[in-house]
Amino acid sequence: MTTKSMDKIMALAKRRGFVYQASEIYGGLNGFWDYGPLGAQLKKNLREAWWQDVVLNPCAGQLGPFGEPVRMVPLDTTIIQHPKVWEASGHVAGFSDPMVDCRETKARYRADHLMVYAPASGERNGKPLFAYLPDSTSEAKQLKKAEKAFGEVTRLQLVKLPKEEYAHVLAPEAEKVGSLTEPRAFNLMFKTYIGATATEDDVAFLRPETAQGIFVQFKNVLDTTRVKVPFGIAQTGKAFRNEVTPRNFTFRSREFEQMEIEFFCHESQAREWYKFWRDWRMAWWQSLGLAGENLQLREHDADELAHYAKTGAGTSDVEYRFPFTSPGFGELEGIAHRSNFDLSQHQKHARTNLEYFDAERGELLPNGSRKGEKYLPHVIEPSAGLDRGVLAVLCEAFTEDASRPSPELMRIHPRLAPIKAAVFPLVNKDGMPEQSERLHAELNKRFGRLGAIEHDPKQAIGKRYARMDEAGCPFCFTVDGDTAKDQSVTVRDRDTGAQQRIAIDRVSDWLAEKLIF
Ligand code: GAP
Repeated sequence: MTTKSMDKIMALAKRRGFVYQASEIYGGLNGFWDYGPLGAQLKKNLREAWWQDVVLNPCAGQLGPFGEPVRMVPLDTTIIQHPKVWEASGHVAGFSDPMVDCRETKARYRADHLMVYAPASGERNGKPLFAYLPDSTSEAKQLKKAEKAFGEVTRLQLVKLPKEEYAHVLAPEAEKVGSLTEPRAFNLMFKTYIGATATEDDVAFLRPETAQGIFVQFKNVLDTTRVKVPFGIAQTGKAFRNEVTPRNFTFRSREFEQMEIEFFCHESQAREWYKFWRDWRMAWWQSLGLAGENLQLREHDADELAHYAKTGAGTSDVEYRFPFTSPGFGELEGIAHRSNFDLSQHQKHARTNLEYFDAERGELLPNGSRKGEKYLPHVIEPSAGLDRGVLAVLCEAFTEDASRPSPELMRIHPRLAPIKAAVFPLVNKDGMPEQSERLHAELNKRFGRLGAIEHDPKQAIGKRYARMDEAGCPFCFTVDGDTAKDQSVTVRDRDTGAQQRIAIDRVSDWLAEKLIF
C-alpha cells in the first residue's frame, strides 16, 4: 500500500481551482475553505447524486428490508433554529470537546487528540512526558527527545494520565514542562445574536447538524403529506462547529455541509432498517468510485456508542483511508440507530405531542381492520459529510503516472466529474474548428446541465489532453484531418489514454451511455 502525498493533492486542488483557502488574500481563516470553479461543480454533482438516489429515486429503486419501496421526502430547514432546539437535543449541555491550553506557547489542543511519549518501563515517577499531535511535526521532534531521555518509549493518550501528571508534561513546541492546563469542556456551537439589541436573551446558535431541523418539523411533514411510517426525511445543508483544532485540509472544518437522512420506523423494525441503510450507504459510496480497499464499513464497539444508541440496533461508520489517516481510516458517514431519543426530547421540551398514529398496527378487530397504535417512531440516521465526500473523491482520484503527458491526473467518476467532456479541433484550421464547435454545441445542449462541456482550440493537442486529465474530464473528442472524409472523430479515455474512432453523429448517444445515471 502506497500512501499518496497530501501536499501534492492540495497543490493540484489549488492550482486547478478545486479548493482555495477561504479569505486567502487576508491570510486565510483557519478551518474555512472555498471551492473554486471545478470544486464547486464537483461538490454540486456529489450533492445531486445523493439527492437523486436518496430523494428522487430512493435507494436507486432497491426495495426495503420488508420488500416495500423506500419512502423519502425532502426538507430544507433554517441554519438558525429556536435556541430551545439545542437544549432539547442535548447540544447546549453536551456538545463539547475537552480542550487544553499551553500557557507557554498559547497553542490550544483537543485533549483527546494529544499523545505523550513515556518510558516503556512504565516507571514515570515525575519524569518528563513528551506530548505531541500525531501526524504533525511535533511527533518526530518529541520522539527524539523522549528516546534520548528514556531509551525505549511507549505512547499513551494524554487524557488517560492522572491529572497530577500534567505537571510533568512537555507540551509540543514548549521549552518548559508543566505548561498545559487541565482539560476544560469547550462547547462547539457558534453563537450569534438575533435582532439589534444583542443581549444574552437574544443568543442563538448556528446549527451544528442539519438533523434537528428534521425532528422539529416531523409533525408538520406528517400532517401535510401522505407519508406513512416507515419513511425518511432527507436534507442537505451547512452545519457549523467551532472545532478546537480544525485540520487535515477540509476534513475537519468549522463550516461544512451535511447530507442527512432521518428514517422513521417502528421500534420492532429498527434492526432490519439499520442493516439495510448501513449496507446501502456503503454500496452508494462504492458506486461513485470509492470502491477499493480504501473504503471500509466499521461497526462501532459498545464503548463508542452514544448514550441514546446504547440499547439500539447499532452504529457504524463508512470510512475512507485518507492519506493523512493512512494506514488508519477517517469517517465519511455515520449510520446510527438513534432510538426515539430526539423525538421524545422535543416532545418533552416543546410540550407537543409528536406521536404517530399507525392505523396498520394493533389488535385485529372483528371487521378485519386494526385498532391502531400510537408511538414515537425510532430513527435510523445515515449522516454523511459532503465536504469529506469531496475530499475522499479528490484523494481517490489523484493518480501519478510519469509516463503520461500529464504526470498527475484525476480519475474522477464520470457521474461526479465537473467537466464531463471536451471537444478539440486537432489544429486550428482546415474547417476543423467549425466542425468541433458544432459538436461542442450539440453536446452542450444535451449534457450541459450535468457539468461543463469544454471547447478548446488552442495549444498542442498533448497539452490540451493533459489539462483535461488534471481536471478529471473523462472523455475528449478530437476533430482531425480525417473527420471531413469519414465523418468520425477520435475519443480519448482519460484513465487509459486509449483512443478509438467513432462516427460524429454517434458521439452524443455514446456519451449519454457514459454520463446518464
Ligand atoms: N446528525 C449526526 C451528526 O451530525 P456527525 O458524525 O457528528 O453526526 C456527520 O457528523 C458527518 O458530518 C460526519 O460523518 C462527517 O462526514 C461530517 N462532519 C462532521 N464534522 C465535520 C467537520 N468538522 N468538518 C467536515 N465534516 C464534518
